[in-house]
Amino acid sequence: MRHFITTDDWSRDDLQAILDLASRMKADPLGSNALAGKSMALLFFNPSLRTRTSFELGIHQLGGKAITLNAGQDSWPMAFAEGAEMLGDEEEHVIEAAQVLSRYVDLIGIRAFPKFQDWSLDRQDRVIRAFAKYGSVPIVNMETITHPCQELALMQTLQERKGDMQGKKFVLTWTYHPKPLNTAVANSAVMIATKFGMDVTLLCPNEDYLLDERYMKAAEANAAAEGGSFTVSHDIEAAYDGADVVYAKSWGAIPYFGNWQAEKPIRDQYRHFIVDAEKMSRTNDGLFSHCLPLRRNVKATDEVMDAPYCAAIDEAENRLHVQKALLATLMEGNRP
Ligand code: CP
Repeated sequence: MRHFITTDDWSRDDLQAILDLASRMKADPLGSNALAGKSMALLFFNPSLRTRTSFELGIHQLGGKAITLNAGQDSWPMAFAEGAEMLGDEEEHVIEAAQVLSRYVDLIGIRAFPKFQDWSLDRQDRVIRAFAKYGSVPIVNMETITHPCQELALMQTLQERKGDMQGKKFVLTWTYHPKPLNTAVANSAVMIATKFGMDVTLLCPNEDYLLDERYMKAAEANAAAEGGSFTVSHDIEAAYDGADVVYAKSWGAIPYFGNWQAEKPIRDQYRHFIVDAEKMSRTNDGLFSHCLPLRRNVKATDEVMDAPYCAAIDEAENRLHVQKALLATLMEGNRP
């Protein structure tokens, strides 16, 4: 069974094939019936604007049926711990839920963010891993501790705007946010940019904001395999100099996971990591992008968001096209 939980499980060639199919689908949005007679459950443990809309619409355009469930609201609260004595609020276990949904639908999408209390638990990604373990249909990651669909949309956008990205300088910059946010998009950004051979700089305030070693190591391995590089910088000007792409994201520092009151005064010192036009002027006519949602004038200024070099809206649109291509690929690849 082939799932789409992390791009680490997929080769560059396989991902490029999805991107190429996405471009063809973008040119002819109603030209494929790849999901005719098929259905997909979209299970959300967290809010969404883009992911829900683009999956529901994409499945419709492919001739399929989407069933969206907001876990704990219009489906039962669910337990995940193996061997749990279920005396709390949870009414059913993922063991049954995953099997039952698999009897109904052909694909299952999962959005399940970290709980933000204990990274050693969150890094197990146990919600989506449990659906993969107990379900019997392909599982699609709609954002957990990585966001691989966002990775595909980012790559489609970069290739549309700048062509082959091999050897291009890609900067992932940490930005301020008043709350600690998920590292998923940051993990994903370094993995996909290195997978496609870019020279990747992770710009962050200090060592506390490094990503989990799993993703740092994956980025290093990708860079070695694909002819790019992966470096860390705490020097804003040096990182922006000559960049072809600036990608912004905020995230909470992992050493302070679950202890956010202690992190906040540290994070508050780094509001100057905001992406602004002066920083962008150091780039090589660089693109700016972000996964959205984005707090204007906190993560990036109005001037950056409204500039022609901002590709965030293109990237959001491309979620639709890459996900359609992904679902068609998964149905084809998992055909009995
Ligand atoms: N980028 C993204 O996943 O957006 P939503 O959280 O609105 O789905």
